[in-house]
Amino acid sequence: MKRSSVTVLVTGGAGYIGSSVVKALGEAGYQVVTYDNLSTGHEWAVLYGELVVADIGDKDRLHAVFERYRPQAVMHFAAHIVVPESVRNPLKYYRNNTVNAVNLVEACLRFGVKNFVFSSSAAVYGIPQEIPVREEAPLAPINPYGQSKAMVERILTDCAKAHPFRYVSLRYFNVAGADTQAKIGQVSPEPTHLIVRALKTAMGQIDRLEIYGTDYPTPDGTCIRDYIHVEDLSRAHLLALEYLLSGGESVIFNCGYGQGYSVREVVEKAKEVTGVDFPVVEAGRRPGDPPVLVAESSKIRRMLGWKPRYHDLGFIIETAWEWEKQVVARRLWCIS
Ligand code: UFG
Repeated sequence: MKRSSVTVLVTGGAGYIGSSVVKALGEAGYQVVTYDNLSTGHEWAVLYGELVVADIGDKDRLHAVFERYRPQAVMHFAAHIVVPESVRNPLKYYRNNTVNAVNLVEACLRFGVKNFVFSSSAAVYGIPQEIPVREEAPLAPINPYGQSKAMVERILTDCAKAHPFRYVSLRYFNVAGADTQAKIGQVSPEPTHLIVRALKTAMGQIDRLEIYGTDYPTPDGTCIRDYIHVEDLSRAHLLALEYLLSGGESVIFNCGYGQGYSVREVVEKAKEVTGVDFPVVEAGRRPGDPPVLVAESSKIRRMLGWKPRYHDLGFIIETAWEWEKQVVARRLWCIS
């Protein structure tokens, strides 16, 4: 199938990860339609195809878009992602992440869309018994965000058994960094992620970086995570799409490098990259943080031939730093 004859509907395509995938799809020659309510996404981030500004909770708009564009595949990014917020307001997460995903799958079934790529999360594992964690590990989410994603995976599995419908679920580990051309990246009025917060502290926009917990059962007492560059993750999406379009069966993949870094290691690397010795203080644990989350990622490497390019933590932070400078230069925090 020629790529230019394949239309991909990308929900949440104006967001941090979605817009990176839209760019990769556009560069690869696919037709792209982004469907995004711009609640956290940005119009300037959609570099290819058309943008429909609408909510996935709006079934009429959703169906009208399926009717008009007749996509062959759907990539579903639109979701809330802040773990502590999900603990305070679980229904917000179950409605948007779970109920609205049902709407979307229903629309796929109704309009004959058989290929679905889902943004899942390492949060579905909760506190894994074994590290690196394999896809077969039991799902035991410890917060509503992770549960809302695990429920969608269950729904996808059942629908793939009952209907002519196949999916790839990508369980993201800690997505970080920015477009290597610094055209797009993460913009959030209240960032929660470690690397973004460290860089904003280096810029003086945050007074001091807090390390949440120094008494974890890890070598330096801080949590360990598997940071994956957003462009490597985007390439995983393209491979997943090609796999489905060529008839591949439904499957779940971890998306991480299999290499963990502690919070202290990330902080030191951020100081090295920026050249700024920004203030850091030790604070108490943040609720809901598993001590160690590192992916076993041989399955996606083997089945999709995924070859990550940007696994060097210094490089990931460099791209994020270049992007933070762009955010200031382009005054992006004030533009929707
Ligand atoms: N951290 C700090 N200080 C900060 C921010 C974060 O010490 O200012 C620590 C956190 O406590 C954690 C680590 O840095 O130990 C990484 O935290 P992030 O917020 O950057 O990322 P998370 O691991 O919490 O979250 C990521 C994804 C979620 C996903 C989760 C799975 O962003 O979507 O992994 O655990 F659910």
